[in-house]
Amino acid sequence: MNEPLFSLIVPTYNEAENIVPFLTAVHLMIESIPHEVIVVDDDSPDLTWDIASHYAEQHPWVKAIRRRNIRGLSSAVLEGFAAAHGEILGVMDADLSHDEHQLPILILKVQEGADLAVGSRRVPGGGATRWPWYRRFTSTVATRLATWFLGLPLSDPMSGFFVMKRSVYEGCRTRLYPTGYKILLELVSQSGPLKIAEVPFVFRDRRQGHSKLGFVVMAQYVTMIFRLTYQRVFWRH
Ligand code: GDD
Ligand code: MN
Repeated sequence: MNEPLFSLIVPTYNEAENIVPFLTAVHLMIESIPHEVIVVDDDSPDLTWDIASHYAEQHPWVKAIRRRNIRGLSSAVLEGFAAAHGEILGVMDADLSHDEHQLPILILKVQEGADLAVGSRRVPGGGATRWPWYRRFTSTVATRLATWFLGLPLSDPMSGFFVMKRSVYEGCRTRLYPTGYKILLELVSQSGPLKIAEVPFVFRDRRQGHSKLGFVVMAQYVTMIFRLTYQRVFWRH
């Protein structure tokens, strides 16, 4: 296979019903760009890793990594970055929540000069379908915490849907903590000023399977905000 220009990292845990529709949909959208899709699965009990590796045997643009004895969205994403070959790196959920139509736009923004392009629910045109009040509430509180404490130039710092230049990752690789859900927040907070583009998207409800966002993830998040704030105040770069 030719060297891919674009590497998409897809963390998965129990996405057996979603993974193939997801891979098919994404491939269609970025067919014209040399790409690889790296699925990083944490030994899902529903055998997502097995489905992904069978699919990879037939589709050379897919690579499946099965991690054992380790769990975590951020650390899975970091493992994917470490295995990626592209000059442009992206991250996307496998549960079809992220609109694949926006993926080529995110890539284009980076090709046009942005360091980082983020799929945002909080710019005009973006949003979320049918979120229960408590999910809206926690999402708003989490966003406010990040904006107040860290002052980041992001309307949707919680987004798990983004594309960036490899150099952004390389520039802060050694400072990234692999805990929790918020790898984007970590990347932006640990980098110097970045040229950021935001692209609206509507977050779709997952149709199959369950969200893994629970109390532990929320507690990790609050800890992370304090750690990043501390690092920004006492350890400016
Ligand atoms: N490898 C791995 N390990 N993957 C995981 C793990 C894990 O421990 N936990 C979750 N994933 C995968 C899921 O399979 C899915 O592809 C993706 O990470 C997101 O997980 P969800 O459980 O669907 O998260 P969510 O929908 O609650 O949260 C999403 O939306 C949030 C915004 O509201 C994510 O995109 C978050 O990053 C985002 O902040
Ligand atoms: Mn989800």
